[in-house]
Amino acid sequence: MENVRSLINILDLSVEEIDGMVALATKMLADPAAYAHKCNGKILATLFFEPSTRTRLSFESAMLSLGGQVLGFSEASSSSAAKGESVADTVRTVSCYSDIIAMRHPKEGAPLVASQHSLVPVINAGDGGHNHPTQTLTDLLTIHHEKGRFDNLTVGFCGDLKFGRTVHSLISAMSRYTGTKIVLVSPEELKLPSYVKKEVLQKNGIPYEQTTDLESVMPELDILYMTRVQRERFFNEEDYLRLKDSYILTPDKLHNAKADLSILHPLPRVNEISVAVDQDPRAAYFRQVRYGRYIRMALIMKLLGIA
Ligand code: CP
Repeated sequence: MENVRSLINILDLSVEEIDGMVALATKMLADPAAYAHKCNGKILATLFFEPSTRTRLSFESAMLSLGGQVLGFSEASSSSAAKGESVADTVRTVSCYSDIIAMRHPKEGAPLVASQHSLVPVINAGDGGHNHPTQTLTDLLTIHHEKGRFDNLTVGFCGDLKFGRTVHSLISAMSRYTGTKIVLVSPEELKLPSYVKKEVLQKNGIPYEQTTDLESVMPELDILYMTRVQRERFFNEEDYLRLKDSYILTPDKLHNAKADLSILHPLPRVNEISVAVDQDPRAAYFRQVRYGRYIRMALIMKLLGIA
């Protein structure tokens, strides 16, 4: 719809807009009470056609923290999608009941279709193996707080780089900063899709290397972004079982890592980071979870025209 600003892809936001949201979220972290009534009378709808803990609950927490209210569903089976209703009709309906919508869907492109039929802003809360822009905003706020900058960082992505939508979105976001280097660590079958390599890395002249060996590249990394193998995107269980434990980060594998490495993970974790790593001060993934609430507060305010 015209004059309604949605967020479907992280590149829908300029670098300057992201900087502004990071600054706003940082102020909110310091003084949440100052923002407790910014969204009084506003309603967020969360339409989750796929499971979620962090994204749905952090969106709900964000809107409640701003003084707004929330409604929605957490599984397709409890909505009229189970009777065959289209995404377009569902969103057209829900946009009559709410001021802003966060939507997760297993089909790539579904939130884009939704945004074309909604009367209110639609936020892509994850679409299939495609994109997850609000996880990327969370990752960027984490990087800003952990490293103090976005430029001149070597970022290693490890695990399922084929189906990991958070990886695709963060690579797009980091490709806009000066001095970014990308290191891709995955099994052969789970390599980064060639469209991301061509349209993002090669198009923007971002230096990158690909390897199957995490320990050999560990000393280079400023950020290690671990990911789980995405069981729900596999066509057969045998392949998942063969690949699921390709990488398990343990304290001994960090022996040659930088002292100021930051270890990120969008979570949920399955087996790819040993719980023993949680004690390492470089493990930033639970701090990352906390940042997700504040950056979503900033995003809600921005798309509602309050920020
Ligand atoms: N990171 C993330 O999207 O987590 P959830 O699937 O729990 O929302």
